[in-house]
Amino acid sequence: MEYAENILGTIGNTPLVKMSKIIEDIEALVLAKYETFNPGNSVKDRMAIKMIEAAEAEGKLKSGGTIIEGTSGNTGMGLALGAIIKGYKMICVVSDKQSKEKIDVLKAVGCEVVICPTDVEPDDPQSYYSTAKRMAEETPNSWYVNQYDNLANTKAHYESTGPEIWRQTDGKITHFVVGVGTGGTISGVGKYLKEQNPNIKIWGIDTYGSVFKKYHETGIFDKNEIYPYITEGIGEDILPKNVDFDIIDGFTKVTDKDAAVYTRKLAREEGFFLGNSAGAAAKGLLQLKNHFTKDDVVVVLFHDHGSRYVGKIYNDEWMKNQGFWE
Ligand SMILES: Cc1ncc(COP(=O)(O)O)c(C=O)c1O
Repeated sequence: MEYAENILGTIGNTPLVKMSKIIEDIEALVLAKYETFNPGNSVKDRMAIKMIEAAEAEGKLKSGGTIIEGTSGNTGMGLALGAIIKGYKMICVVSDKQSKEKIDVLKAVGCEVVICPTDVEPDDPQSYYSTAKRMAEETPNSWYVNQYDNLANTKAHYESTGPEIWRQTDGKITHFVVGVGTGGTISGVGKYLKEQNPNIKIWGIDTYGSVFKKYHETGIFDKNEIYPYITEGIGEDILPKNVDFDIIDGFTKVTDKDAAVYTRKLAREEGFFLGNSAGAAAKGLLQLKNHFTKDDVVVVLFHDHGSRYVGKIYNDEWMKNQGFWE
């Protein structure tokens, strides 16, 4: 018989899928690392379980404890799966720009969800960073995960996602392209791949309203770069410890409209029913096309599933109201 001991045993070993129509302007072989095959439908399952295991090993998370995290949904889902199997309580603190679907999904897997305003400074007491931290101080036997600065996040991708991509491409990968939020995915995968072959180029996808691209290029943390944006999952108004700027070769920024339009194109042209950051990554890939030659093997990682965006990107009225309709 062949079965997993529990749902956590099904995390990882996701497929690589060749892309065609949407990238027809690119001559290189472009492969999608299709992370929605994880049980929580996102790449974040990998790092969520790794962070729980690290906290257990360090004695920060104890029997019957409460896990508290500020999460846009996907990390919360992964943590919730871990909490169910390992017997912890789970509180997710989210910002009010997150899709209703993501919040309902968290509740479905037993999380208590606390919603905070998006349009405040990170150090404002109402922000979801501050609220998560404060709740962790006030809740007995609790552990604040902090996916931004918790380096078990990067380690998960160094130990699983990176080696999978290297093995699946038979060591032929030349470029890795991925959206950057906490930075765990790009830093862990990038570090592993560059250790195997230092010539592999690592490209981050950023969004307008985020500090990453300018910081990478100039070393300046420019507050003028920060303003509210629609794209979910990528870009930041802080510098998370998980972003290792040294292993990143460059960033390209994608607009909210392009991210939304390309999310829909992925579904219609490739049959890839994916989340908002996948559209940003696909458009970013096209923006980078002059960096690729016909012998290159480019891997782009898609983080999460389309089901969490049916009330937004996949809703015609919502697209029209945002001025994104084409
Ligand atoms: C949908 C989505 N895309 C991209 C990212 C960015 O991934 P990372 O945090 O590993 O940089 C996240 C992270 O929250 C996400 O939820």
